[in-house]
Amino acid sequence: MRGGAPLVGTVRLAGAKNSVLKLMAASLLADGEIVLSAVPDITDVPVMGAVLAGLGVDVTHDADAGTCRLAVVESTAIRPPRDAVTRIRASISCLGPLVARRGAAELALPGGDRIGARSIDLHLAGLAAMGAVIERADDEVAVRAPRLHGARITLDFPSVGATENLIMAATLAEGRTVIDNAAREPEIADLCHMLVAMGAHVSGIGTPTVTIHGVERLSGVQWETCPDRIEAGTYLVAAALTGGSVRVERVRADDLTLPLRKLSDAGASVSVEGDAITVTRTSGPLNPVDVVTLPYPGFPTDLQPQMMVLLTQADGMSRCTENVFESRFSFVDQLRRMGADIDVDGHHAMLSGPTRLHGATLAGLDVRAGAAGVLAGLVADGETIVHDVHHIDRGYAHFVERLRSLGADVVRGGDGA
Ligand code: UD1
Repeated sequence: MRGGAPLVGTVRLAGAKNSVLKLMAASLLADGEIVLSAVPDITDVPVMGAVLAGLGVDVTHDADAGTCRLAVVESTAIRPPRDAVTRIRASISCLGPLVARRGAAELALPGGDRIGARSIDLHLAGLAAMGAVIERADDEVAVRAPRLHGARITLDFPSVGATENLIMAATLAEGRTVIDNAAREPEIADLCHMLVAMGAHVSGIGTPTVTIHGVERLSGVQWETCPDRIEAGTYLVAAALTGGSVRVERVRADDLTLPLRKLSDAGASVSVEGDAITVTRTSGPLNPVDVVTLPYPGFPTDLQPQMMVLLTQADGMSRCTENVFESRFSFVDQLRRMGADIDVDGHHAMLSGPTRLHGATLAGLDVRAGAAGVLAGLVADGETIVHDVHHIDRGYAHFVERLRSLGADVVRGGDGA
């Protein structure tokens, strides 16, 4: 890409990566067919499809139509295919459903972005509290429970994945489960609402205390995946960064309260109209702002790298604190190589701006840092090359095409494609 062009135009998004993968996993719980719509055209979806196919789920994914139909046709497998499991973190979402429905699961430890230790101790402790017996080997875990029972579980940390896994497990457990200090991300609420539509009894949805009364069976359902607040936020940050105006459609402003406030504090104008958000910055320097990542409704860690790029262009000192993933600042080195003035002290980063960024070759980034690297290239002097674009494809549908449609000077090709 070559920097300099302001992004102007409209993008209309499909559903959220971090929701659809869990909705797919929930098919393991159902007696009937799950039909998902607004399925994003991202590569994690077929990988999750392969995980589920290995567990006897018939998966029909139509990427163009944005639909995915899932129905269990064979229900004895408890060991999802290792190669697919180790490619995405969300494969851990099969754990709760398998134990609840099939009485056992044997799983290679999941993959995903290399952004921290990403242990699964909270998932396992919750299942153990529900009566499961856990055996751990080096890179595998086996969990067994003929019938899970309800329990009161207080999470040490509001983990997204653990909250989802335990909710799914509890839907078919015997009795009542209460999860305290539960994560409240909108994608978890999406999963809970779908489970309720399948016949589950879940209350306290979207709050830190979720209560689930186990039922005997869950049915199939048709469900529309909730919007992707992170993908939306990425385009909105890009609008403010490049001094353009981008309207993102099919997004919920309520899911982005804090990021939108930060963009507005930074000097962009934000307007909301139904399911569309427009961010515009026509002239003048950006203001410095402080950002602290926290579980929802805190500032999302998945927008932190993109926001850091924006803050390199703010006039003054901004501070960014990362509280969710300990290794997420690895992107800072790449930004520094482009000329950014950033000091890191533990999980705090101090940014001094504005700095002119210059083109560079960036590699080894994860899905969000990859997108952020492209954003940096859109304001850098000269040419920037982002390698390993497959990381971006995991979470952004047609990223390069969409940026081009907004006026960005970016092409896809070479060995990074
Ligand atoms: C999900 C999202 C990811 C997002 C993250 C936080 C998906 C597929 N991924 O990841 O995009 O960045 O939420 O919003 O939905 N932890 C433990 N023990 C556990 C579980 C987690 O220590 O058992 C730690 C992790 O190492 C991490 C923190 O808790 O430091 C947050 O992890 P968690 O909320 O579980 O994130 P994920 O579900 O992996």
